[in-house]
Amino acid sequence: KPRQDNPLYALLEQAAAFYRQQLRHHPKKERAVSYLKQRGLTGQIAKRYDIGFAPPGWDNLMGHLTTDSTEVKALIEAGLVVENPDSGKRYDRFRDRIIFPIRDSRGRTLGFGGRVLGDDKPKYLNSPETPVYHKGQELYGLYEARQANRQLDDVLVVEGYMDVIALAQHGVTNAVATLGTATSEEHLKRLFRIVNAVVFCFDGDRAGVQAAWRALNACLPVMEDGRHVRFLFLPDGQDPDSLIRSEGQDAFRARMVQQAQPLTDYLFRHLAEEANPDSLEGKAHLATLALPLIEQVPGSMLRRLLRQQLEKLTGMDLDTVPRQPTPTVGYE
Ligand code: CTP
Ligand code: MN
Ligand code: MN
Ligand code: MN
Ligand code: MN
Repeated sequence: KPRQDNPLYALLEQAAAFYRQQLRHHPKKERAVSYLKQRGLTGQIAKRYDIGFAPPGWDNLMGHLTTDSTEVKALIEAGLVVENPDSGKRYDRFRDRIIFPIRDSRGRTLGFGGRVLGDDKPKYLNSPETPVYHKGQELYGLYEARQANRQLDDVLVVEGYMDVIALAQHGVTNAVATLGTATSEEHLKRLFRIVNAVVFCFDGDRAGVQAAWRALNACLPVMEDGRHVRFLFLPDGQDPDSLIRSEGQDAFRARMVQQAQPLTDYLFRHLAEEANPDSLEGKAHLATLALPLIEQVPGSMLRRLLRQQLEKLTGMDLDTVPRQPTPTVGYE
């Protein structure tokens, strides 16, 4: 556990201030500014998310923040400077990129994401795990979502920085991102301390569909009665950013109302693709896949309803079925 007064926090804050400053005053800022405009973002939203610019060059940040050798060590510890293990050469991690600060729920900067301004690879660079930044726990945009909403009723979980920011730009201010890591039980516990409804809205591609099924599996052990989880699947090739930009806030919200599937619907629909209950064999297969998932649900009402649904689908009285070992389902 990081100590409250870990000096890395102050350093990360100084770095955020530097990147923010570069977006306003660097001689080459115009490329960055026009990139953000081209992606449909206003200065106001850039400010709300504290977007910055890491200018081209190997040691801009290092030069700005370093006063003696101990501070370079701290910059390395903070994930801001990289040290080549062979040559010992040190250089800024983020160069010539748009910078997105990742904050904790109190607003402290923990790390950064950096996007190239064009089509270079890798498209995104992220801070590594550090003493203050743990990817499996943090949700990008949660601080900003809480700032923007006096009362958060539900949270929309998306994949990326630009999805969160584009949604906010169009008035959907309750989105957070897992940033390319799988949704963890830790993420969910954090969310369910704040809201009792979560909607997952991943990209309309193979990776997004896989992320959704993995998210469902992470949700099962935290499905207390009273909690709501839904899944919104997007058209092929779309992500929340591209979709809200093309169809606008109202159509996007209507899509959520009309098309987001409750976790339990998605669960049975997905399993029925694997085990078609049209035959007795399919019913047996479905039951072996579904039962171990259902048994993970802590909410006793929901667990009972899920068992009833499985009984309906299979025509079987589950009370007479002994406990099964856990098989693996899909994408494992
Ligand atoms: N990501 C990453 N490294 C990559 C690609 C993606 O860390 N090389 C993470 C980033 O957090 C990114 C998220 O995964 O925001 C979603 O990735 P993806 O859908 O591939 O991003 P795009 O939508 O293609 O990004 P953009 O809209 O900026 O072009
Ligand atoms: Mn994608
Ligand atoms: Mn995407
Ligand atoms: Mn995108
Ligand atoms: Mn499957």
